[in-house]
Amino acid sequence: MFSIHSKMWIIIICVLFINTAHTSPTRLKPPLYVKSVSFKSLDQDNFIDRDNVLNPDKLRTDPMCPAADSIFPCICLLELAVGKLNIDCSNVIDELQLRQVFGTDFPTKDFQNLTILNNSNIKILGNGVFGSVTFEHVRIMKGSLVTIEDSVFILSNTTLKSLDLSWNEIAVFPFPTLNVYMNLMYLCVKANNIQTFPIFASQSLLGLCMSNNPISILPLNPYGYLPHLEHIWLSSTKVKDLPPNMFSSLHKLETVNLHSNKINRINMDTFKITSQVLQSIDFSDNEIQTIEAGAFIGLHDSVINLESNKLTILPSDVWQGVVLQNVKLRIKGNPLLCGCDVAWAVLDPLFITHLEGAICADGHKLTDECKPCYKLCSPFIELRRLFTFRF
Ligand SMILES: *[C@@H]1O[C@H](CO)[C@@H](O)[C@H](O)[C@H]1NC(C)=O
Ligand SMILES: *[C@@H]1O[C@H](CO)[C@@H](O)[C@H](O)[C@H]1NC(C)=O
Ligand SMILES: *[C@@H]1O[C@H](CO)[C@@H](O)[C@H](O)[C@H]1NC(C)=O
Repeated sequence: MFSIHSKMWIIIICVLFINTAHTSPTRLKPPLYVKSVSFKSLDQDNFIDRDNVLNPDKLRTDPMCPAADSIFPCICLLELAVGKLNIDCSNVIDELQLRQVFGTDFPTKDFQNLTILNNSNIKILGNGVFGSVTFEHVRIMKGSLVTIEDSVFILSNTTLKSLDLSWNEIAVFPFPTLNVYMNLMYLCVKANNIQTFPIFASQSLLGLCMSNNPISILPLNPYGYLPHLEHIWLSSTKVKDLPPNMFSSLHKLETVNLHSNKINRINMDTFKITSQVLQSIDFSDNEIQTIEAGAFIGLHDSVINLESNKLTILPSDVWQGVVLQNVKLRIKGNPLLCGCDVAWAVLDPLFITHLEGAICADGHKLTDECKPCYKLCSPFIELRRLFTFRF
C-alpha cells in the first residue's frame, strides 16, 4: 500500500484542500477599495471621529501643504500610510473664511480627505468655495448646511469617491449633477431636510443613504438610473407606499434598509428581485398589515426582517414559495392570530425554522403551537377561521 512518505503527502494535500475550501466563500468578493473604509461611516448615528486628525503617528505636517498660518483655522496633514494629504476645516467661522483658505496658493491640489465636523457656521456651500483643490472623500457632518450649489465639487469630477453630508439641514442639493462624478461610490445625505425623493443617474454609485429625511412619496422607479447600487438606506422617513418593481433594475443589490417608515402594505410585484446577491431587506418598525401573494419574487438565501409590524396572518400563498428559497423571515413583534393560515409552517419542520421569533398574539411561540390541532386544518376549517375560529 502507501509508504509513510506518501501518506504524509496525502494528509498535507487534504489539509490544503480543506483550507482552501474553507476560505473560498470570502474570496468570491474581490476586495473593493473604500468598501471597508469609508463605508462604515455611512448611516451611523454618532460618527464623529477626529482622533485620526490629531494622531501624530498617522499624520504629520508636510511641505506639500500650504503654510499652516495661510490656511488657518484649517489643518493640512499628510496621512503617512497612504502618502496623501487631508485637510480639516471644522473650525472655520463661516463660508467666506473657507473660501479664503482655499483661495490661497496650494502647492498640491489633490487632497484625499476634506473633513468639516460639527460646524454650525456654514449654511451654504457656494460654487467655487474650494478653489482649485480636489478631494476623494468629503465628510461635512453634524452641521447646519442648507444649500449646496451645483458645481461646488465639480473639479473633483474624476476624484470624488465618497460624499457624506449627514446630519445637516440640507434642503437643496444638486442631485442631477451627480452623474459627472465618475468614481463616486457612496453618497450619504442622511438626516437632512430633503422632502422630495430625487431621481438621478450614476454609473458608479454603490451605496446611497437618504434615511431620516422628511420624504413621504417615492416616485416610480426611484433607483432606476443607479444600476450598480448595492446598498440602500431609506429608513425613518414618512414613506407609506412602495412603487411596483422598485428594485428590479438593480442586479447587484445586497442590502435594503427600510426600517421605521410608515409602510402599511406590500403589493404584488413590489419586489421582483433580479439581484442574485441580495442578503437582506429590513422592514422592521413599519405598520405593515397586508402583504400580497407575489410581493417577493426572485429572492433566495436571504433574510426579510418584518419585526414590529402589524401582521396578523402568514398565508401560505404569500410565504411558502419564498421560504422554500431559503429565505428567513424575522417576525417577532407581530400580533399573529395563528389560525389555519400558519398550518403550512407549523407542520413542516423546514418552514418553522425559517420563521424566527414568531409569537402568536396570545403569547404562544409558533414553534410551541399544538401540531395535531393544525392537522385538522382543511379548506373547510380555513373558512371557519373567518368566523374567528382559533385553536
Ligand atoms: C480619509 O478617508 C478615508 C476614507 O474615508 C479614511 O479611511 C481615512 O481614515 C481618512 N483619514 C483621516 C485622517 O481621516
Ligand atoms: C459639537 O459641538 C457641540 C456644541 O456646538 C459641543 O458641545 C460638542 O462637544 C461638539 N462635539 C464634537 C465631537 O466636537
Ligand atoms: C471634469 O471636469 C473638467 C472641468 O470641468 C472637464 O474639463 C473634464 O472634461 C471633466 N472630466 C470628465 C471625465 O468628465
